[in-house]
Amino acid sequence: MIIPHAPVEAPPRTLELTLDGKTVTVTEGMTLLDACRQAAIETPTLCYLENLTPVNACRVCVVEVEGSRVLVPSCARKAEAGMVVKTDSDRVRHSRKMVLEFLGSSVDLSTAPDAQRYIAEYDADPSRYGPDAETVAQPVKVDNELYVRDYSKCIACYKCVEACGTDAQNTFAIAMAGRGFGAHISTEFDVPLPDSACVYCGNCIGVCPTGALMFSSEHEMRESGTWNEQEQTATDTICSYCGVGCTLTLHVQDNSIVKVTSPIENGVTSGHLCVKGRFGGVYVQSTSGEV
Ligand code: SF4
Ligand code: SF4
Ligand code: FES
Repeated sequence: MIIPHAPVEAPPRTLELTLDGKTVTVTEGMTLLDACRQAAIETPTLCYLENLTPVNACRVCVVEVEGSRVLVPSCARKAEAGMVVKTDSDRVRHSRKMVLEFLGSSVDLSTAPDAQRYIAEYDADPSRYGPDAETVAQPVKVDNELYVRDYSKCIACYKCVEACGTDAQNTFAIAMAGRGFGAHISTEFDVPLPDSACVYCGNCIGVCPTGALMFSSEHEMRESGTWNEQEQTATDTICSYCGVGCTLTLHVQDNSIVKVTSPIENGVTSGHLCVKGRFGGVYVQSTSGEV
């Protein structure tokens, strides 16, 4: 009798490279950012997210690769055998600092904690471009009840476009429009969100690194000075609107759900939700039975 065997998977292939003078072994297919993280080398990122395709838009993650004329974005460049990589050279630090200064001088980063932390770490001084530096300042777009768009805070990282497109939602309600400094996120023909293809999944809010896209609840609380993350709790639960079983993280302040997210590492959602999970929290708080 022939006993069937389960197919034996080949062990993952590994390769060696040099990171900041140390030889490290990584699995084939890993990026330089993955290699840095494996080696506990902290690397700044703004446009990168584990659940999105790298777009190399921000260039804050650049590293120096021996033999390469230009600095390379570690979030997208695959590790290769024999690579010699410097992650903290003067050239790398200078480039990261410049990027952060450009962003800090033109964009409101007041609700972007990661960018603020990097600015401090790299001793960047956005104010050195002076008070007349070109900015993307503009009025906040408030055109629906669920979320606001404040493009004064937009660093053009493309994350929202990717989440609205093939990386998650496949709705394509938003895209990058314009060129150069005038490049900006827009709906088709710049129509208000309710007239666009938007289905209000909020996945763009979930990935935005700067607070340019924000729940109306958070925006209103920040405006009135009542937003207080220290007083908020985050509780995971399972969405009961359908059988998929998405994990919802309910952020609660003063006994009210102030926003809903989902863990990026969750196997069901990868951090993405639909309109019911993202914004249906209001139903929990409804005392009238209406939403
Ligand atoms: S809420 Fe969803 S559909 Fe609307 S713009 Fe954002 S990602 Fe696209
Ligand atoms: S709105 Fe947010 S996610 Fe979209 S490009 Fe701007 S900063 Fe990135
Ligand atoms: S994080 Fe790598 S280019 Fe933006």
